[in-house]
Amino acid sequence: MAENQEYTSQAQVVKSSIFTASQALEKAPEIIGVPTGVEGLDELFFTVKEVDGKLKQVPLGGIPRYSVMNITGVSDTGKSLMVEQFAVEQAHRGHAVAFITVESPANFVVASMRERAKAMGYKFEELEDKIIFIDAASNSVLRENLPDLLATLAYVIKTYKVKFTIIDSVTGLYENKEMMARNVVRRIYNFLKKWYQTALLVSQKRSGHEELSAEAAGGFAVSHIVDGSMVLAKQLITTSYVAKIYKRPVGEVVRLFRIDGCRMSGHDARTYVMEITPTGLVRIVCPLGEC
Ligand SMILES: Nc1ncnc2c1ncn2[C@@H]1O[C@H](COP(=O)(O)OP(=O)(O)O)[C@@H](O)[C@H]1O
Ligand SMILES: [Mg+2]
Repeated sequence: MAENQEYTSQAQVVKSSIFTASQALEKAPEIIGVPTGVEGLDELFFTVKEVDGKLKQVPLGGIPRYSVMNITGVSDTGKSLMVEQFAVEQAHRGHAVAFITVESPANFVVASMRERAKAMGYKFEELEDKIIFIDAASNSVLRENLPDLLATLAYVIKTYKVKFTIIDSVTGLYENKEMMARNVVRRIYNFLKKWYQTALLVSQKRSGHEELSAEAAGGFAVSHIVDGSMVLAKQLITTSYVAKIYKRPVGEVVRLFRIDGCRMSGHDARTYVMEITPTGLVRIVCPLGEC
């Protein structure tokens, strides 16, 4: 009894965290799609609307606004290309994008991004001022001190009125301390939510983990926290049996793509064939087995 009293006298009721559903709804965002600049991807997210008294599935036309999405895969699967395309697309539409680069220094990423813009048919000079880099690749304090990184991002968001944030990659923020992965990703996720960012977090998967699942050291920690995951994979065709499944010759590499859950909207759950075009653009082609 005494123990109980002590417990209740110390415990606080946090009234600021209690909402009725109608109060919560006042702050609930409308579900709107944000175009990704990746051909074939925007149609894979959808919402359900009532049309003439019947429920109908309608395409969102992009990833859900205000979602924090994880893009995962082993190296060389097209993750960086994909987020560069997203940055270019949003900048082209006149929106400011914060791009936190953790692996490759900003001057290298910008060179690659300019190529992406060219391939997408956009003039980079017309959109370059909308892309704001935070170069954590060249600065170990930003990489190793999360409060400094988030303070820098907050400054960039306020100064440039940023609505979109990309981190390539979050894995680089907990290198050699994977025990911290969940903690790091949780703090980043909460920060991005608080600032109403639509965000893409790249996370690296180790080879050896099941190719098309979001599970991996990094991928595992990330996928449970974020709003959804997109998984990129590549498969070398080694036998005629596999060749038949993929409708590709032995020796060829097939690139695969799958949305591994999204809690903010409906989505296509099939595995898709993906390609990287000769000009270096990621493109979702068709459901596996249908082309
Ligand atoms: N300009 C390009 N033209 C053709 N292929 C490219 C081009 N740029 C990159 N690629 C191909 O795309 C692959 C994946 O690139 P990237 O997005 O950097 O992978 P990840 O970030 O997943 O490691 C590269 O290894 C390369 O094979
Ligand atoms: Mg990369």
